[in-house]
Amino acid sequence: MEIKKITVIGAGNMGHQIALCAALSGFEVKCTDTNPDILAKAIAFANNYLNERVTKGKLTEEEANKTKQNLAFVPTIQEAVVETDLVIEAIIEKLDVKRKLFADLDAMCPAHTILATNSSYIVSSKIADATNRPDKVCNMHFFNPALVMKLVEVVQGSHVSNETVDAVMNAAKKMNKTPVLLHKEIYGFLVNRLLQATRQEALKLLDMGVASFEDIDTAAKNGLGYPMGPFQLLDLTGIDLAYHVGMEKYKESGDAADRPSPTVVEKFTKGDFGKKAGKGFYDYE
Ligand code: 3HC
Repeated sequence: MEIKKITVIGAGNMGHQIALCAALSGFEVKCTDTNPDILAKAIAFANNYLNERVTKGKLTEEEANKTKQNLAFVPTIQEAVVETDLVIEAIIEKLDVKRKLFADLDAMCPAHTILATNSSYIVSSKIADATNRPDKVCNMHFFNPALVMKLVEVVQGSHVSNETVDAVMNAAKKMNKTPVLLHKEIYGFLVNRLLQATRQEALKLLDMGVASFEDIDTAAKNGLGYPMGPFQLLDLTGIDLAYHVGMEKYKESGDAADRPSPTVVEKFTKGDFGKKAGKGFYDYE
């Protein structure tokens, strides 16, 4: 099956860039969000980004216009899924909310449509049984910022068909991404398991008062060659995401060590979600 039409559900931190990336690669894309403000921000971002790419000489006027034609931001899921081949869900990291959405998508989408989740941690087998098409439900995990980061993790749980995986891997390649295939479901996949180890240690060092978050970032950048320190990255990916992911993991394991760290809880409670909120560890105002 060749994917030509893509729907992105959720126009937040990840969704709007995944949609734009797909449109730039020639897919016909519809993106939707239940929050009209987030949708308006996504439209403004797409227009600015494409205009800037033309100014920078990275895109021709014609390519920018073609991308704009390929990309529609629509207010309802019903409009977004008409004749779609692949849905990429990029909404909040809450299992019950995702399960409800996938059940709705199953009822609304054409029979051939693949339903993928961009979840950072939740494996698709926890969602697939909310639909009548488990063989077509898989993980397709992008990285932030999705327009720049090349990797996509595709996960083949035992319920996912080879046809689904082939179609999703090919769609990722057409999006100019480098997909990797996981043959087993595992919490956090590859990258977030590696990232989590560094992040937990960074938060622990901060909570122990060993060094400031700025110096821990400086250490990671200058001592390990990381492009960003762990706190800059937390601000980029969202402290709200780190909070929800920790809470979901804790709910599942019951292990207090899985709870979000006190610093993450404090920032989450204050609404200091990171770059998108204007304030996280760093100030962006
Ligand atoms: N959105 C879109 N494009 C962006 C961007 C953003 N937020 N930030 C930078 N860019 C683009 C710029 O436009 C520029 O493009 P060009 O070279 O084609 O003109 C290019 O990226 C380089 O930008 P800059 O020179 O301004 O900045 P840097 O060279 O410092 O790169 C970065 C910025 C790509 C964000 C780099 O710092 C980086 O790679 N950081 C690490 C990001 C990372 O680790 N992401 C993974 C997070 S984990 C995750 O996503 C998992 C999820 O489950 C939470």
